[in-house]
Amino acid sequence: TMDELRYDGQTVVVTGAGGGLGKAYALFFASRGASVVVNDLGGSFKGEGSSSKAADVVVNDIRAAGGKAVANYDSVENGDRIIDTAIQNFGRIDVLLNNAGILRDVSFKNMSDQDWDLVIKVHVRGAYKCARAAWPYFRKQKYGRVINTASAAGLFGSFGQCNYSAAKLSQVGFTETLAKEGYKYNIICNVIAPIAASRMTQTVMPPDILDNLKPDWVVPLVAVLVHSSNTNETGSIFEVGGGHVAKLRWERAKGALLKTGPTLTPGAILKKWKNVNDFSEPSYPTGVADFMTLLEEASKLGDNDQGEKVDFSGKVVLIT
Ligand code: NAI
Repeated sequence: TMDELRYDGQTVVVTGAGGGLGKAYALFFASRGASVVVNDLGGSFKGEGSSSKAADVVVNDIRAAGGKAVANYDSVENGDRIIDTAIQNFGRIDVLLNNAGILRDVSFKNMSDQDWDLVIKVHVRGAYKCARAAWPYFRKQKYGRVINTASAAGLFGSFGQCNYSAAKLSQVGFTETLAKEGYKYNIICNVIAPIAASRMTQTVMPPDILDNLKPDWVVPLVAVLVHSSNTNETGSIFEVGGGHVAKLRWERAKGALLKTGPTLTPGAILKKWKNVNDFSEPSYPTGVADFMTLLEEASKLGDNDQGEKVDFSGKVVLIT
């Protein structure tokens, strides 16, 4: 026998569900029993204009297949209205997929305030407004599942996308804190860096590669993370797409511990540069460094050695 993960009786809000990844999420969760709010502003990928068509098409597809869905055409900047749509129509919200997004790619040299502000507004403020509106419901019912959407561009940087990179990495920090604050209320929050063929990527990747990058290949991981059976995987970052699924985490080098005081000079840092960069015995922090322990250890140290260089005459000179 087989047992599929199901979402009967739950309401799933998908932002930017008129196309690409959002549409794939909406169709999937509706097919697995959820009532879906299909939100989409219906503008261009650069964030211009609006239309009800994108969301309507998806709602019609879902209903034609016997599923439950309702459209919402607000910008994610008005997240409260999107969550209201869930409450008005289905009486509850269980899952929020913060997925809507735009691109305004341009080199940093040519970036305008408008290109910067619009991208930050949609990705950062939009995800905030939707989560903020859903949060009281999640807390009250002691149940909530959130996916925020980062990007490789945010994690690693990407030419021509400094606005988008900044917006996307913000979703990691945002998710980490929501995961910590939500945990005791059974609110589980994760962040994905997806890769999929969509109108966003069709101009930057060749067609034969895009064929293997269907949005459908991102959906199953999201389905696992937001299912009620996931009560522990929270605050995690995943790369997902084209059949690849992997968690990412921070790695801390061995590092240098220096005595504070007059010998903590630039030269002392240079002297320890190898340790600062030594990943041979890494740790994997999930919180801030324990500064009390570090302070205590540092206080036991002697004065710091200074860096050295050999000058033109072959003499060793200390750097401070
Ligand atoms: P897409 O352009 O096909 O879908 C985004 C949807 O969001 C569009 O239907 C658009 O109308 C909607 N939208 C835009 N601004 C909105 C607003 N203010 N309010 C409501 N809806 C709005 O793009 P795709 O590829 O499906 O992207 C989905 C998410 O995944 C985005 O957050 C994107 O940044 C992220 N992502 C996608 C990658 C990819 O390879 N496709 C790579 C990394 C991240």
